[in-house]
Amino acid sequence: MSDDPNALARRTLIAGGAAAASLAAGAAAAQTALPGYRLGDPALAASPLTPADLATLKASLLFGDADVAALRKMRRVVEGQIEAILDVWYGFVASTPHLLAYFSDPATGQPQSGYLGAVRKRFGQWILDTCDANYDAAWLAWQDEIGKRHHRMGKNKTDGATAAAHIPMRHVLALAVPISVTMKPFLAAKGDTAADIDAMQAAWTKSVLLQAILWSRPYTKEGDF
Ligand code: HEM
Repeated sequence: MSDDPNALARRTLIAGGAAAASLAAGAAAAQTALPGYRLGDPALAASPLTPADLATLKASLLFGDADVAALRKMRRVVEGQIEAILDVWYGFVASTPHLLAYFSDPATGQPQSGYLGAVRKRFGQWILDTCDANYDAAWLAWQDEIGKRHHRMGKNKTDGATAAAHIPMRHVLALAVPISVTMKPFLAAKGDTAADIDAMQAAWTKSVLLQAILWSRPYTKEGDF
């Protein structure tokens, strides 16, 4: 466990002091500990979306300050459960052949375990980042990059994988449902009130959909997003 870079990133994030300092330090630590992780990397291409565009999108999703607060609260609930959550999501992908194909080499049909493992570590960090998100330009740039990593313009490049070259946008948007509904038992596992669990579940669902929408930007024609 001690040489798991994701665990190291999590410990660094948890050990931080004030939320903002902890977020900045955590993102920096995670960048060193997690190969391919680039939230806060100034070399990342800027998102074409402005903060004002993001504000109107959040309004369309009914994503407000109460949701941001619920996600902050949710961090404490999920941080000890990251591997168990990933087991559920990876179990779903592994048992769904048309999804597993995107982690598999088309020539052999075999899942690429190194690729699955490398992505899993960043996926764990993404859960915490979704709780901590500050929705600034760096966060928007990272969302655009994650979108590109699902699209043929960026897929496989980060980990040098030879899996299927592109994930269709329809599946990226559809996966927002399993990624959302499967969170409920983890949110209910720490003795929070039913109202708090519902608030965290609603905020999580909105944030997953918000990010899936942002990730669809690289899939669309100039001017259509
Ligand atoms: C709401 C829907 C989805 C969420 C929340 C999600 C989440 C993520 C996250 C957090 C990463 C890691 C990004 C990084 O740090 O590099 C990632 C990468 C990846 N996801 Fe998704 N994903 C979604 C949809 C899908 C679908 C439908 C598939 C199909 C199996 C998929 C397959 C992959 C693959 C193969 C990668 C690695 C891409 C690369 O080569 O860099 N994802 N996803």
